[in-house]
Amino acid sequence: MGFLADSLSRIKPSPTLAVSQKARELKAAGRDIISLGAGEPDFDTPDNIKQAAIEAIRRGETKYTAVDGIPELKDAIIDKFRRDNGLSYERDQVTVATGGKQVLYNAFMATLNPGDEVIIPAPYWVSYPDMVLLAGGQPVIVEATLEDDFKLTPQALEAAITDRTKWFLFNSPSNPTGAAYSHDELKALTDVLMKHPHVWVMTDDMYEHLVYDDFQFVTPAQVEPGLYERTLTINGVSKAYAMTGWRIGYAGGPRELIKAMGKLQSQSTSNPCSIAQWAAVEALNGPQDFIAANNEVYKARRDMVAAMLNEAEGITCPVPEGAFYVYPSIAGCIGKKTPGGKVIETDEDFVTALLEDEGVAAVHGAAFGTSPNFRVSYATSTEALEEACKRIQRFCAALQ
Ligand SMILES: Cc1ncc(COP(=O)(O)O)c(C=O)c1O
Repeated sequence: MGFLADSLSRIKPSPTLAVSQKARELKAAGRDIISLGAGEPDFDTPDNIKQAAIEAIRRGETKYTAVDGIPELKDAIIDKFRRDNGLSYERDQVTVATGGKQVLYNAFMATLNPGDEVIIPAPYWVSYPDMVLLAGGQPVIVEATLEDDFKLTPQALEAAITDRTKWFLFNSPSNPTGAAYSHDELKALTDVLMKHPHVWVMTDDMYEHLVYDDFQFVTPAQVEPGLYERTLTINGVSKAYAMTGWRIGYAGGPRELIKAMGKLQSQSTSNPCSIAQWAAVEALNGPQDFIAANNEVYKARRDMVAAMLNEAEGITCPVPEGAFYVYPSIAGCIGKKTPGGKVIETDEDFVTALLEDEGVAAVHGAAFGTSPNFRVSYATSTEALEEACKRIQRFCAALQ
């Protein structure tokens, strides 16, 4: 009998964190590396938010708090859901955790029994299937194709639902594709879900505020109020407020579920950091105008990156609605050889050779469940992005 838990053998370490780590190591060894692997803003946390944290320390807000969040943060979250999403929650319908990641984890651990199925559209965020597996559930991967702009069709959703489906996991704007569903596109999915009352909806709205070209963000319980009683709406401050290191995520949903998630958290991590919670209060209640200013920068980068990648031989890069990723296809590079004689058979071969030959780090599509693609994060300086895209063009041009 082995020492480690069997459940661990079902999962793998996060491949996106692994790419960032590899890039850091190569950089430390003196290589000129540009990393397009990170899933975090290159902007700093706004000053008013930092200041709120400093004041919280000075006030002595340094003790344990209520397990699932201080009342002040819950109220800020309630206001945010009402203001941005037209959703009404009370304090006992809101939970706060150490990042959106822990919210997702708590929700799966609190609800999945062996054999319970979770429908996950691919390409997906790397952690979803592994979290489901760790909680004893069964991920059911349903592909959303490039032809459908990486958006799940209602037919594909319908076909994936079985008696054992417990959750439909929805993520818009998406990591890794940046694709975001319009009201009508989402309504087509919620219409399907209305026909299956045993299916619950977990929506990961982490990139809500990062949308471009006047795109209107919508979330399932807003588009279909009939789903409110079985929807967990997850969000967090990491992406829009440039607060990845502070580790605050939250959700609104049905009381029984929220209570169960709190119970789980009470026996694992307890409350999220008290100081970070006060910073999140300021993030949600304070000025929001820097988000639009940051989005201008992101949009310009998205347009530049998509245009330059589309000029690279063998690459097709859609222009998505949101987040800070593009997810180009490299179908035109498969089967070709690098000048060093390596054959590109998979997208992993592509990103490995790109890192070795040109010092550009990115994550291969197989990590997100769809190949042959790779994910480019444009949450990095415009100069670095331009140089990285030039290197990718040169890399592709050298393939034979
Ligand atoms: C789609 C998606 N959901 C959730 C998270 C988790 O965010 P955090 O735990 O920082 O709140 C991430 C982070 O990369 C993400 O991309």
